[in-house]
Amino acid sequence: MKNSRIKIIVGAIISVALIISIFVVVKYKNNQVNIASDNDKPSTEQQANEKPAGEEPTTPEVPEEPEVKPDKNGYIPNQTLPTEPTYINGILLANKRYPLPSTFAPGEDAKAREALNTMLAAAKQQGFDLVAFSGYRSFEYQTTLYNNYVNRDGVDAADRYSARPGYSEHQTGLAFDIGEKGKEDLWLTAEFGETSAGQWLVAHANEFGFILRFPQNKEHITGYMYESWHFRYVGVEIAKEIKQRDITLEEYLGVN
Ligand code: DAL
Ligand code: ZN
Repeated sequence: MKNSRIKIIVGAIISVALIISIFVVVKYKNNQVNIASDNDKPSTEQQANEKPAGEEPTTPEVPEEPEVKPDKNGYIPNQTLPTEPTYINGILLANKRYPLPSTFAPGEDAKAREALNTMLAAAKQQGFDLVAFSGYRSFEYQTTLYNNYVNRDGVDAADRYSARPGYSEHQTGLAFDIGEKGKEDLWLTAEFGETSAGQWLVAHANEFGFILRFPQNKEHITGYMYESWHFRYVGVEIAKEIKQRDITLEEYLGVN
């Protein structure tokens, strides 16, 4: 009797031990499977690239070259000057986006000078004694001029009215700063544009092939604040069209 009781207890213990062992073994195997599937799990990137079954694989997109953006003053940071000037449809362009080579030194353009003289003579007939107080400027002279303005007003202010060396239209030999003789205090001021002489000039310059290069409210296009005194020779036909359409040279050339 006692023996059979012991047998039952021992049997029960063995059974319980067996059940526990089986349970532990099964649990361990499950864990192994889980760890393996964790390792196989694709990363977020892989998941994103995974195509649903049946879909044609596509060639990966080639990322576009990021366009170099001009800084707040309109210049491409660390831009090197080109070896050739830019002509668009035969028109020489010089601005903050299209600089000139430092070696570009054509001197004053003869046709522009001739047109200027004709214009100044016509103005005189109307009683306006105009003078071009600045014309062709070499790269070196523009360097001195710009640096002086920066020292006086700081870079941000200077960049709104003076071109950095290599970026000035004066280096093309096609631009002139015009003012009235005897009214030197109004030279390089917006006020000149309000005088009768300044108004005659802006109204008639196109007839002689000149455009007011930096008009009011076009700084976002030209890169410079209003300059009532700066005129650029482009030839009569183009000057008339630009005036009639009330656009800038950038807009005319499609580079705005
Ligand atoms: N004043 C014009 C922008 C120049 O310096 O060329
Ligand atoms: Zn000028």
